[in-house]
Amino acid sequence: MLLTTTIADEILEWKQKRRAILLAHHYQESEIQELADVVGDSLELARKAREFSGRVIAFCGVWFMAETAKVLNPGRMVVVPDREASCSLVDGCPVESVREFRRLHPEYAIVSYINTSIEVKAESDILCTSRNAVQVVNSIPAEQPVLFLPDSNLGNYVKKQTGRENMKIWQGTCIVHATFPARRLAESKAEHPRAKVVAHPECPESVLAMADFIGSTSSLIEWCVASDAAEFIVMTESGVNHSLKKLAPQKQFYYVANENCNCSECPYMKMNTLEKLRDCLRNLEPRVELSADVMRRALVPLERMLAVK
Ligand code: 13P
Ligand code: SF4
Repeated sequence: MLLTTTIADEILEWKQKRRAILLAHHYQESEIQELADVVGDSLELARKAREFSGRVIAFCGVWFMAETAKVLNPGRMVVVPDREASCSLVDGCPVESVREFRRLHPEYAIVSYINTSIEVKAESDILCTSRNAVQVVNSIPAEQPVLFLPDSNLGNYVKKQTGRENMKIWQGTCIVHATFPARRLAESKAEHPRAKVVAHPECPESVLAMADFIGSTSSLIEWCVASDAAEFIVMTESGVNHSLKKLAPQKQFYYVANENCNCSECPYMKMNTLEKLRDCLRNLEPRVELSADVMRRALVPLERMLAVK
């Protein structure tokens, strides 16, 4: 019998040779999620990497997530399938503008969403993710003004939840979530009247206003799995369908197309392929290399965030 080696077999072989762990974000293609040691949201992935032994972390997500994993695992090599897998929020928040804000407004606490470059993180007082943004802002003394960056929809949501008046919000957006039209969600609700709506806080306020639950990618999955409902309209990247169908195969999940690609996929996340994953394990490139200084400075706001309950 002729045995054929698949790319998945090659990946597993290289993973063993490199003593690597494979981390995948929920927005990765299903075949990548299937091979991963851990699938999670951006915070979980950074944290979980520390629980594994192994020399190499192969990070299947976008670049800022791999940088975060490197800061938390400085002794390990972090490789990624595609160096170009960025994020519109990172690209819309250059470090020079953040430094200028700091120079003009030294009294502000800068709260940076994890979807920022490592240089921006290094300029920040504390970081947050979509899972803990409300608690992080609440941890800052009420009298201190706050700059929240870079996602304006998440910032507006946090401002509303915390009731915080002295909060400026950067005007960045996610090209996937910010272009989900409320009109299309309303049409989907009319088509599936029994469905519950879950939404990522990067969605516009008009979409969030129709949601039964708002949370990070992992929180949305957990909520749908635990819910008594049988149908859900899921207002985030459709890669979450992989875990949803695995954990709740009897339930129905519907997705709404955004206005950019007429789909609900992140073009950056989808740059990663099985071939590129195999190659990064084989070549140990592209690799996250950060200066000791930027890692030291970015670790401070990262550890502050991790300490917030
Ligand atoms: P999570 O932190 O929920 O994984 O979100 C990351 C992200 O990029 C959402 O678009
Ligand atoms: Fe960035 Fe949006 Fe893609 Fe998330 S979905 S990585 S926020 S562009």
